[in-house]
Amino acid sequence: MFSWLEKNPFFFTVAFLFVFSIAGLVEILPDFMKSSRPIEGLRPYTVLETAGRQVYINNGCYNCHSQLIRPFQAETDRYGAYSLSGEYAYDRPFLWGSKRTGPDLQRVGDSRTTDWHENHMWEPTSVVPDSIMPAYHHLFKKDADFDTAYAEAYTQKVVFGVPYDTPGGVPLGNIEEAKKAYMEEAGQIVENMKNQKIKDAFQKGEVKEIVALIAYLNSLGQSRIGK
Ligand code: HEC
Repeated sequence: MFSWLEKNPFFFTVAFLFVFSIAGLVEILPDFMKSSRPIEGLRPYTVLETAGRQVYINNGCYNCHSQLIRPFQAETDRYGAYSLSGEYAYDRPFLWGSKRTGPDLQRVGDSRTTDWHENHMWEPTSVVPDSIMPAYHHLFKKDADFDTAYAEAYTQKVVFGVPYDTPGGVPLGNIEEAKKAYMEEAGQIVENMKNQKIKDAFQKGEVKEIVALIAYLNSLGQSRIGK
């Protein structure tokens, strides 16, 4: 029936592009729908969490961890509710990952605590005896990068319209206000940590990368959707 088409390169190309574009539209169009907009109550990342997210990216955590829970029972039993596209509305870039050497982390904030992460990042086998995850001592030494994180949050606000400074949202303000909020939030994390060096450094106004990373890990899950 379509053999005439196969013999006619021009119409074949047109038909091919038409069919091909349907596949593209099916993937792209839903992203413009309301249901893929931020899910209700989703808040942007704070500056401290953004700094932690940068630590996560810089250290390549996504090479071993996904942040995407598929709608299969084996996954939802283990990791919690499956992922919705609207949950990633403020994730630039998204960190879905493509390999799970370790578990999915999209809802890790619902099950792990600050001191658990502290022990685990310092020495994974201290809390998970068979762990093959590397230890991350350097995160306890290096300072988190406030300036870059603030610049990123500010860019998200101005360029992408991420709702910072809206009622019920995350205040960003000017750089001094943002720094103050950053230190306060870091203080709450440090309070729940045991490492004395981290506490001493914080007294001197230093926020180590581990503090920002833990803030980020804690934000993964219900706390960012106001539940
Ligand atoms: C070489 C692969 C690898 C890399 C890189 C890696 N991890 Fe892991 N991670 C694992 C494995 C394997 C586990 C499971 C064993 C365990 O809990 O330690 C794990 C477990 C975890 C858990 C516990 C999750 C849970 O709910 O039990 C967290 C949190 C975590 N990793 C965070 C990170 C962060 C943050 C980074 C980057 C700084 C990172 N991982 C880098 C392999 C990796």
